[in-house]
Amino acid sequence: MSTVFLNGQFLPRSEATLSVDERGFFFGDGVYEVTRSVRGMLFEWDRHARRLTRGLKELHIHCDVAMDEFRDLQLRLLRENDLQEGQATVYLQVTRGAAPRTHRFPPAGTAPTVFLSATGFTPPHDRRAAGVAAVTYPDYRWSRCDLKTVNLLPAVMANQFAADHGAFEALFIRDAVLTEGSHTNVFGVIGGELRTYPNSNYVLPGVTRDLVAELARELGIPVSETPIYRHEIPALEECFLTGTTSDVMPVVTIDGVAVGDGRPGPISERLYAALAGRLDEVAAGSAAVAHR
Ligand code: PDD
Repeated sequence: MSTVFLNGQFLPRSEATLSVDERGFFFGDGVYEVTRSVRGMLFEWDRHARRLTRGLKELHIHCDVAMDEFRDLQLRLLRENDLQEGQATVYLQVTRGAAPRTHRFPPAGTAPTVFLSATGFTPPHDRRAAGVAAVTYPDYRWSRCDLKTVNLLPAVMANQFAADHGAFEALFIRDAVLTEGSHTNVFGVIGGELRTYPNSNYVLPGVTRDLVAELARELGIPVSETPIYRHEIPALEECFLTGTTSDVMPVVTIDGVAVGDGRPGPISERLYAALAGRLDEVAAGSAAVAHR
């Protein structure tokens, strides 16, 4: 039985219960983060913390847990669940709390609901080696996709559509442009240049996206925040997804048509290797702390 954190307490998952007046339940009124851990250390927590801080501010959710406290809660949760070896993901959610249902905000002073859980994670090495299938899907989400809210119904519908069509991911198309995946950001290579949708209100500023773009610049791979148009999909030399649980995941078919030669491409492989190097550095840091 795993241990979770709910509103100030660590407790067995089966004992963690929420009010039926929970605004996350009624409205999807909250934000979340999924952070990777390696050997008990959080990977890129500072970037997750910045995004979480911004999301809470934009949605006017007043949470008195500081980002450093969130970091310590996550580290403790990993220890409580014996997840200091290997890799794990930590789920963190803050909602506007529980209050009788009205659309407007609940009375000032209503405590937010704070929930954290941790699960062991096996990196998707086999899937990455083979590459995955993706399908396109209309992006009918709202216009604040930059906020990581728990209001994920379009992502759920899109990802189920992908699953129903034997694909790993659904690629959202808005106004004839590829924005991102249902739970990943998307990069493509055209004419040797790496392209991804610009950070804006139409995509999530992915932690992995931003890190991979930095790694590409370090490797001297040209990167441009330029949208990929739907009509350019047949011209993609490579395509890959980025995300906390997807790493750099090559896409080898889109809507059943091969991308490039239908195998993971060299830029995807170089960028995955660079990302894996960063994950290894965190693991090595953890080993150094353990031997101190
Ligand atoms: N999803 N775009 C969307 C719509 C996402 O939901 C996610 C993450 C990403 C990638 O962001 P990051 O690199 O920060 O994980 C992009 C998480 C993992 C999820 O919903 O489980």
